[in-house]
Amino acid sequence: MSKTTLPRPDRNLAMELVRVTEAAAISAARHMGTGNKEEGDQAAVDAMRAFLKTVEMKGTVIIGEGEKDEAPMLFNGEEVGTGNGPEVDLAVDPVEGTRLLAEGRPNAISVIAVAEKGSMWNPGQSFYMNKIVVEANARQAIDITKSPSTNLINIAEALDRNVEDLTVFVLDKPRHASLIEDIRQTGARIMLNSDGDVMGALMAAIPGTGIDVLMGIGGTPEGVIAAAAVKAVGGGMQGMRAPQRVDEKRKLREANVDLHEVLSLNDLIRSDNTFFAATGITGTNFLEGVHFDRRGGVTTESIVLRSLTGSIRYVKGIHQLNRRREIGGSLGTTPAHVAMDIIGPA
Ligand code: FBP
Repeated sequence: MSKTTLPRPDRNLAMELVRVTEAAAISAARHMGTGNKEEGDQAAVDAMRAFLKTVEMKGTVIIGEGEKDEAPMLFNGEEVGTGNGPEVDLAVDPVEGTRLLAEGRPNAISVIAVAEKGSMWNPGQSFYMNKIVVEANARQAIDITKSPSTNLINIAEALDRNVEDLTVFVLDKPRHASLIEDIRQTGARIMLNSDGDVMGALMAAIPGTGIDVLMGIGGTPEGVIAAAAVKAVGGGMQGMRAPQRVDEKRKLREANVDLHEVLSLNDLIRSDNTFFAATGITGTNFLEGVHFDRRGGVTTESIVLRSLTGSIRYVKGIHQLNRRREIGGSLGTTPAHVAMDIIGPA
């Protein structure tokens, strides 16, 4: 009898990336509620950076902590990974929701998105973008050039739901006053959050999370990160640059950028091979935050997505800080131990 040869299992890069977001989340979590945005972000950057070195890839940061001169770490254009393995683009946000973390509010996460080299859109001087995100079944129903009410009516139709039963995630910003009014007119429910629209996009793209639609203006880099997740779960997304700052408006005008251009999911991430990992820091309805336990343990909860296979994994991490002495030679190689080096013992 001839033996069937099974194909060799391939590699899901996101399974390694989740260790990076776990380390960043644990490091950041110690700074919850301190009132200091920079401290938590710095701790997360340090941990993310240390752990990225262990990932077998030749990565370039496309969306990082900023231009090189302003951010000494994880800057746009920085090369990360071991230098071996697949050539990839990276979008990182060690703490998405720095203010949420500093104020101890829910929804701060640590996040990484990876796509094939050359496939990630570089926002350049665009800092703000209007976004709409929905799950797969409503993918064809969205059109960012149309009014919020038209979109909500079409989305409800596509999902076979009443508009009144949809819940829309909106950032609670003065710029959204008329958007909120329009949504209210349709009867749809609104969930306002002060920050964190990557989490909003993730929840909108995954059915059954309690959020059906994300609408409104948030960061452009966050839009690209969200696109990797939306793509991975087969959801729908459109964006449109929406400059808010005077210098941003001027630079885009000088560069002759068309502000009416609709950015499709494929414009934001061209590749169909994307990986996404996010770990809760302060805890959300969707992902638990980091818990420091009595016995020298730390627990984390993460989501791991891969577009090629459409796999969605929820990863519960139970990290044993008190095992540090026992693992001797390989000290510092777990997310919790890297975090411990940065934040001190839990
Ligand atoms: P940070 O973690 O960089 O502070 O971003 C938080 C955030 O709320 C994003 O989720 C969102 O896209 C963006 O800021 C909105 O920017 P702004 O607060 O300037 O309106």
